[in-house]
Amino acid sequence: MAALFDPVTIHGLRLPNRVVRSATYENRCDADGRVTDELLRFYRKLVVNDIGLVITGNAIVHPWGLTAPHVLGIWSDEHLPGLTRLATVFRDAGQAGVVQLSHGGRQTQPKLIDGHDVLAPSAVYSRAMKTTPREMTLAEIREVIDDFVAAAERAQKAGFQGVQLHAAHGYLLSNFLSPCTNRRTDEFGQDTEARTRILLEIHDRIRARCGSEFPVLLKLNAEEGLRTGIDAAEAVRIVQVLDKRDFAAIEVSGGVYETGLATRTKINSKADEAYFLHNAERLHGETEIPLILVGGIRSPERIDEILASGTVALVSMCRPFIREPGLLRRWHGGDRTAARCISCNECVKRIFDGPVRCYQEEKASART
Ligand SMILES: Cc1cc2nc3c(=O)[nH]c(=O)nc-3n(C[C@H](O)[C@H](O)[C@H](O)COP(=O)(O)O)c2cc1C
Ligand code: SF4
Repeated sequence: MAALFDPVTIHGLRLPNRVVRSATYENRCDADGRVTDELLRFYRKLVVNDIGLVITGNAIVHPWGLTAPHVLGIWSDEHLPGLTRLATVFRDAGQAGVVQLSHGGRQTQPKLIDGHDVLAPSAVYSRAMKTTPREMTLAEIREVIDDFVAAAERAQKAGFQGVQLHAAHGYLLSNFLSPCTNRRTDEFGQDTEARTRILLEIHDRIRARCGSEFPVLLKLNAEEGLRTGIDAAEAVRIVQVLDKRDFAAIEVSGGVYETGLATRTKINSKADEAYFLHNAERLHGETEIPLILVGGIRSPERIDEILASGTVALVSMCRPFIREPGLLRRWHGGDRTAARCISCNECVKRIFDGPVRCYQEEKASART
């Protein structure tokens, strides 16, 4: 029976405990996605806190897939010196770290991409973005696969221990997986196997370039909240396809911009925690790949219950670490009260206002 502070090994990567810091956009890079001193300072504060695994904020693999201003870039070798400095911050603290790789797809911000087309598997209007993307050509799909592979190589060269493919939350890779946003009739569409093909190809190409020991994790939506989108039954079919490859772990999440399910509010009790657990329970046993559960996890008691059930191997949190980078160290030290994050989503609403931070913590510090 696993517990929070039990070590675990995923794809050869030894982690000191079962808690992952889920990818969190930082809004701290320069306008070209280069690492800044401010980003390094931010991670220096995070990585000294005994977190099992830290996943960076989404790093963008092609400049036409930009999701946000001052987001981490990994599309060019020009990003490599900065990424190497970032990986050194992790290494010096003995912190296991992987880079999350993403392309905005249907949720690319048009004003950040200089009039280029917003690209997606199919031209399906987004209410959230108020844009209709252009359907990608086969050549463009091949290019984007190359982009993910080149980005993984850069992450490895920089000194990170692995990558996570962001195939959740309505960005490009999840657009391919979703029957709602992928209406293609070629080899990248039509059924679950074909919609998942892009992930398998990226996985295989990364394996060929980075070696079989390099961990490739995945973040997956098991529930989109879209009428014809991914639901738990489709997610089961997706993981059965993914099971043919040796992904290091699958982080189970949900939601797209239109449905906003990823970052829920009103987590006021232990019963409100872990709002995607029902989906992880559906996926459990359908794949040999270890599962990570994200979404509204706030207390060590709930984490221990979830781990003890054996449904997932690890849990991950995002907002709790925005408020309290030292949360895990606090729990380890014996203060086991729940995370101080109240899930108000002020940090989400003001995400583009400047470096991502906790506005409640700012108010609390101003009072003391
Ligand atoms: C400010 C902010 C930035 C985020 N950035 C990312 C990101 O870059 N990549 C990602 O997969 N999820 C991102 N998320 C979603 C989180 O990783 C996580 O899935 C979600 O917040 C639910 O977990 P929580 O309840 O522990 O916050 C972000 C969430 C927040 C609040
Ligand atoms: S602003 Fe602070 S308290 Fe509110 S959700 Fe974000 S991290 Fe949590």
